[in-house]
Amino acid sequence: MMSAIPIILDGDPGHDDAIAWMLARASRQLEILACTSVSGNQSIEKTSFNARRVMTLLGIDAPFAMGRERPLHGEPIHAGNIHGETGLDGPALPEPTVPVQPCSAVELMAKTLSAADKPVTIVATGPLTNVGALLILYPELKPKIARISIMGGGLAHGNWTPAAEFNILVDPEAADVVFKSGLPLSMAGLDVTLKALVFPEDFERIRALGNPVATVVAEWLDFFYSFHRSIGYAGAPVHDAVAVAALVKPEILTAKDYYVQIETQGDFCRGATVADHYGFSQKPPNVRALMDIDRVGFIDLLAEAAAWYGKEPA
Ligand code: BDR
Ligand code: CA
Repeated sequence: MMSAIPIILDGDPGHDDAIAWMLARASRQLEILACTSVSGNQSIEKTSFNARRVMTLLGIDAPFAMGRERPLHGEPIHAGNIHGETGLDGPALPEPTVPVQPCSAVELMAKTLSAADKPVTIVATGPLTNVGALLILYPELKPKIARISIMGGGLAHGNWTPAAEFNILVDPEAADVVFKSGLPLSMAGLDVTLKALVFPEDFERIRALGNPVATVVAEWLDFFYSFHRSIGYAGAPVHDAVAVAALVKPEILTAKDYYVQIETQGDFCRGATVADHYGFSQKPPNVRALMDIDRVGFIDLLAEAAAWYGKEPA
């Protein structure tokens, strides 16, 4: 039997972050070593509270630490219009029982990497503030990072500005550090995540599973679907779960390697992920960009994960 991939979950829960963490916790191919929060969908206080509520709901038994209040440069940007005032509006969640470690998210990441007996994969589903800071402050730990599986960016277009996707736009300087790191990067950008759509029949299938986690997941998806329908989407794109699916069920995804740079300046394009489609830069690819997904396979994966919570040993 293959040994599990050790991972650190770094995100800004957020409905799709929470569903990504639900998938990670239920996947026997993954071992969650630590969880960290980042300012993004809401303030760091709110995303941290949500992260701990989600960990409690899912039974993630790993240390948790909070990220910083702000991106590396610039002012924080939040997405309360999508995820609500709490950053995770919708169903009632348990009060968190997971303690906050007396160190920063970056320090917890560094400690976790140092202690790991094999390289660790970081699953980053929020702005890249923590991961960028980790690489700046602890460059000697790069060999302890196997891969960074990112939800962020979009080679074709953005979703927060015409050019930029939210996670990259919030902290382009951090993203720039990550994309220049030379580490193996998987990018679940909008090119693929806008195809990872959930429809009512999918969340009703999950709701029908009847276990407490499945019920909450169905309600998160219901909330996320209603918002996205109201702005013209056909379904709810569960962006962040694609970054986990890439690790546990890569066969449902297709990918292409690109040299991708982050625009950190620009009047119109700050935060854009600029892919060199035609080799102008003469640079080797630095990113494996996920481009397409078997949507039904993705829904099956989410539903199987949600079902796991009804069967797991007490
Ligand atoms: C990303 O932005 C956030 O609102 C979501 O959680 C996801 O990580 C999609 O652009
Ligand atoms: Ca997110």
